[in-house]
Amino acid sequence: MPHDLPAAAPGFDQPIAVLKHCHDRIRKQLDTLQRLPAHLAAHGADDQARQAAQAIIKYFEKAAHLHHADEEENLLPVLRLVATGEDAATLDALGPGILADHEAMHAMWQHLHEQLTGVAAGSADALDGAAAGRFAQRYRDHMATEEAHIAPMAKRLFNEAQMQQLGEAMQARRGLGPVSPPSPATGDAVAALRKDYGQATLDAADVAADPFIQFNAWFEQALAAQVNEPNAMSVATVDSEGKPTSRIVLIKQYDGRGFTWYTNYDSQKGRQLAANPHAALLFFWPELERQIRIEGTVERTSAQESDTYFHSRPVKSRLAAIASAQSAPIASRAQLEQHFAQAEAQYGDAPPRPEYWGGFRLVPARIEFWQGRRSRFHDRIVYTRQADGNWVTERIQP
Ligand SMILES: Cc1cc2nc3c(=O)[nH]c(=O)nc-3n(C[C@H](O)[C@H](O)[C@H](O)COP(=O)(O)O)c2cc1C
Repeated sequence: MPHDLPAAAPGFDQPIAVLKHCHDRIRKQLDTLQRLPAHLAAHGADDQARQAAQAIIKYFEKAAHLHHADEEENLLPVLRLVATGEDAATLDALGPGILADHEAMHAMWQHLHEQLTGVAAGSADALDGAAAGRFAQRYRDHMATEEAHIAPMAKRLFNEAQMQQLGEAMQARRGLGPVSPPSPATGDAVAALRKDYGQATLDAADVAADPFIQFNAWFEQALAAQVNEPNAMSVATVDSEGKPTSRIVLIKQYDGRGFTWYTNYDSQKGRQLAANPHAALLFFWPELERQIRIEGTVERTSAQESDTYFHSRPVKSRLAAIASAQSAPIASRAQLEQHFAQAEAQYGDAPPRPEYWGGFRLVPARIEFWQGRRSRFHDRIVYTRQADGNWVTERIQP
């Protein structure tokens, strides 16, 4: 089985080309996978077969889910924000299928993974060729759809900042640094940005009519300004007596439906939200002298969305979610470590999502954008959702 030299990878400053490069790598692994059953029948689990199985496992266990997360958490949400007319209709038609494919391919992979693990270890010498064929076909059709419709749409609609945001998110997901190391010029640019925002103003006439577009613009600017933990937000909930509590979580998705984070449904916030779904989110980006306040009602994400995000997380985080009954008392750290070890022994590197773990999406009714101004004479623009779904903006006093 010949292995071609990998094509040179494009940089993350061209994120759509990186996604295409991932597809090419997936196609190579699928070719190898589809050749493997015949090779095993002729030669058994020889060195070549074991190495091929190891390479396939490595790719689909370690890299493929990152690629899916790029699409689910960054590419599609931003496309949903910017697509209008025919593009929005295409996205509505294709988006659910793309997510369903990810889910189905993940399930199909679990079946193949088990068999490939045996081949990789030399303890099995057969692979279900029909299952490998179905998996490969689903993946190939899926990638063809994305290349025909989604990638060209992103290239056409994304502005420079949105492309940069996508590339940076993809890099961060892979634990890689910025495109180029910070140079004095970059440092100056950030300082200039801060200075600029020190004098920034916010006027109802300047903001987008849709608060999600406005949020996206500010979020991108927060990323570009490299603010500390841009996706950290406070979530406030109330208990059965109406007493408030708040805590920080990380926003993982935002789109026209709302703002999503992931957590334990049995935690304190989970139980409070089950009894009273009203909540408030707060972002504070001091470097830009900005805060965003978001209020509304909270719903659970679908099991499919929660599964997709859960399986994009590193395996240790997945095990930690299983091992921790979040917010419940525990006698000692040692006992907690023991729960983790038990989960690891039970599930190894394929922990399933517990039913009590998943996403919450806050569907906003009110969003306020706050821009700090001199002498505490700040700008505040509030969006309020009307009964017909439209948003009305107004200025309120500092
Ligand atoms: C920066 C930061 C990010 C966090 N992200 C999350 C998160 O995404 N999900 C989560 O459940 N907890 C997260 N936490 C922990 C929460 O603040 C909190 O301790 C936990 O969710 C339990 O809250 P509860 O007992 O009110 O339910 C984060 C904490 C910090 C400081």
